[in-house]
Amino acid sequence: MFKRMQSMQVQAVHSFQTIGPDNHEYRAIIAIHNTNLGPALGGCRCLHYAHEQLAFDDVMRLAQGMSYKAALAKVPQGGGKSVILLPNKLALEDIDRGFLFTWFGQCVEQLNGQYITAMDVGTQVADMDVIAKQTVHVASASNIGDPAQATAQGVMTGIRAALDFYFSSNSSSNSLSEYATKRFAIQGLGHVGWRVAQQLKQLGADVIAADPDKEKCRQAQALGIEIVDIEEILFQACDVLIPCALGGVIDDDIIDLLECKIIAGSANNQLSHDGIAQALAARNILYTPDYIINAGGLIFASSQYYNLQAGKQTSLDTSYSDKIESIYQTLMEVFILAKAQGENINQVANELALRRLKLGLDDSTGLSNANEITLPRKGNVYDAA
Ligand code: NAI
Repeated sequence: MFKRMQSMQVQAVHSFQTIGPDNHEYRAIIAIHNTNLGPALGGCRCLHYAHEQLAFDDVMRLAQGMSYKAALAKVPQGGGKSVILLPNKLALEDIDRGFLFTWFGQCVEQLNGQYITAMDVGTQVADMDVIAKQTVHVASASNIGDPAQATAQGVMTGIRAALDFYFSSNSSSNSLSEYATKRFAIQGLGHVGWRVAQQLKQLGADVIAADPDKEKCRQAQALGIEIVDIEEILFQACDVLIPCALGGVIDDDIIDLLECKIIAGSANNQLSHDGIAQALAARNILYTPDYIINAGGLIFASSQYYNLQAGKQTSLDTSYSDKIESIYQTLMEVFILAKAQGENINQVANELALRRLKLGLDDSTGLSNANEITLPRKGNVYDAA
């Protein structure tokens, strides 16, 4: 484990265990990747893991991802993540969640604010409310609210940046007026995908979507959205493919079948491996790194957390909205650098994040090369690569 921590530059890994009232053993791990920019913030996953090593690997990889996400979103937070390893013989419905999250809240409290927890796979707002009775270091209890609206705002901003770059218009007003001539394919009409679908329709766009939930599909059809089979959504001819459901959806097997110009959605870890980014570029498909475009939720959670700490009313503060808009600039810089250097776009984003982790959020040297590059205003710049 120490070797892995060293190679991933994880600062600390804290492990906890207890025996529940049901006599089962509960374990949790909190990984703190980097706190150079602020206390670590990241969700808590509550899952059955086949082996504890998988849980360690998961939590360290996810904590590292949060450091990079916060650095690129210019949020004053470090990267952290936690996992609760559910007893393998215990079914989800038999878990005493009141006990579990009271105990986990005490674990978080022991770290004195070095780690701020939030919702993730397998946890709900009600669990966060239980945690909030034990510690103030929680960023998605019901007093903070659903981050999906902010995430959707970030996705819309990212789509605008990608359209501007791809179609070389470099101006938000140009691309806004162009939505009506574009076709968007959305995978998943959940909290984020539904909001993105609504906003695109309001802009007059042609929207197609897929979701296994029949009721969501029916509501989408009522808005004029065409519904296709979930097996077919990724292969639709469209300008922008918007994955808002699952991770790993773009893999080696489907690259040649894609008929989109841009991929820009909220789902985490959309590419099954980093090399896919290069393969997409070779097909002239502009990929919008997921951890930049989906940072709206993190920006919102961080801002509301600090408002609560300062005793301010969270609902009155919308200053996070400007920060979400800065996703446009970050993406544009990454697009330009990747094109200028002919490099894997994910690699470029990672390098930029690492530089910010080292030099701080006010660093501008990381983008000095990008600032010297002017974006062409005519023609399909990405195709010209
Ligand atoms: P959600 O769970 O509300 O929505 C996911 C939707 O995808 C559901 O409607 C589900 O029925 C649908 N779905 C499942 N399998 C599908 C398939 N094969 N094809 C099409 N649709 C399918 O999740 P939410 O909150 O909308 O998040 C979407 C993605 O964005 C997730 O990957 C999440 O990790 C990521 N994300 C969400 C954030 C947030 O603020 N909610 C923040 C950052 C990332």
